[in-house]
Amino acid sequence: MTRAIVLHETGGPENLIWEPVEVGVPGPGELRVRQTAIGVNFHDTYVRTGLYKTLSLPGIPGIEAAGVVELAGPGVAAFVPGDRICYVDPSYGAYSEVRLLPAALALRLPDAISDEAAASLLVRGLTACMLLRHTRRVLPGETLLIHAAAGGVGQLLVHWAKHLGARVIATVGSPEKAAIARGCGADEVILYRKENFVERVAALTHGRGVDVVYDSVGADTFSGSVDCLGYFGTLVNFGQSSGAVPPFPVSRLAARSNAVVRPILFHYSRERAARDAMVEETFRMVQAAVLRPRIGLRLPLSRAAEAHAALESRATTGAVILTV
Ligand SMILES: NC(=O)c1ccc[n+]([C@@H]2O[C@H](COP(=O)([O-])OP(=O)(O)OC[C@H]3O[C@@H](n4cnc5c(N)ncnc54)[C@H](OP(=O)(O)O)[C@@H]3O)[C@@H](O)[C@H]2O)c1
Repeated sequence: MTRAIVLHETGGPENLIWEPVEVGVPGPGELRVRQTAIGVNFHDTYVRTGLYKTLSLPGIPGIEAAGVVELAGPGVAAFVPGDRICYVDPSYGAYSEVRLLPAALALRLPDAISDEAAASLLVRGLTACMLLRHTRRVLPGETLLIHAAAGGVGQLLVHWAKHLGARVIATVGSPEKAAIARGCGADEVILYRKENFVERVAALTHGRGVDVVYDSVGADTFSGSVDCLGYFGTLVNFGQSSGAVPPFPVSRLAARSNAVVRPILFHYSRERAARDAMVEETFRMVQAAVLRPRIGLRLPLSRAAEAHAALESRATTGAVILTV
């Protein structure tokens, strides 16, 4: 037996129940992993509320963690007990002390990256890699608008975009978050709960608009984000922290020959070679100190409900992790 957070019914954070669960021995191709640090992602809140119906209930949520291999099942040659690993599992099960994991998902953790750092940046770092290097390859000198720039993904996006030589205009929800975004390297910071970000972007770009908007906020910002695009600019909508984006007429994109894309990390990493290349590049950025993991909230796994409530109330900065 082990203990895990189980979701029996979708709903509020209080529906994340800490309870005993069984873990068997690993079958062919599986590992048993004793987990040490688990990443809490905004995705987990969409699953908990039922916005995403991708976890069959009752089920154990969570898509990423780091830990140590306890046992390797038949046919697993790549890992032995004691190996440090981390993973992203689109099929969930991460909110557990111990779990079985398909060995194909396990990634060997470099000595220089701690378990907590891995849990704080695997999904978020791979997302930044996808967004800046694949969805829309950012070039030196381009101007980007990055929303929620003090958040988990947001901070890593700013670090990496600056490393690529882009000019970064960031939006954030509070003066404290503005200081964090500046500390990550943002050139300009807009308090989008007080200021009209479309007008500010127009002023900061002398009416030209930006080359790319990275928008994870969704409902509240999407329309304004379209208005911030320059000629041939791309709106990358990769999340919906404020709610789903309402229907929108494609004809609006004709104003400046714009594009909108809606990328999903699980699609970009579904093939092993592509995933491994993104992991390699992301870990390289961490080891070169381009990406600097920042854990804003760390709670024991049993208190996952508090972690969700904090993330949803915009109270967090950087990554949220659960420890075992
Ligand atoms: N497409 C993909 O494959 C992919 C992968 C990973 C993450 N994501 C998305 O990336 C986004 C960031 O994820 P994260 O885990 O790093 O979270 P996060 O950015 O640390 O937290 C969300 C932030 O969004 C902002 N926000 C604006 N309106 C909000 C509202 N009504 N409710 C809550 N937050 C609001 C808040 O920042 P301010 O206070 O500064 O406004 C909040 O701190 C999420 O939307 C997530 O779904 C997408």
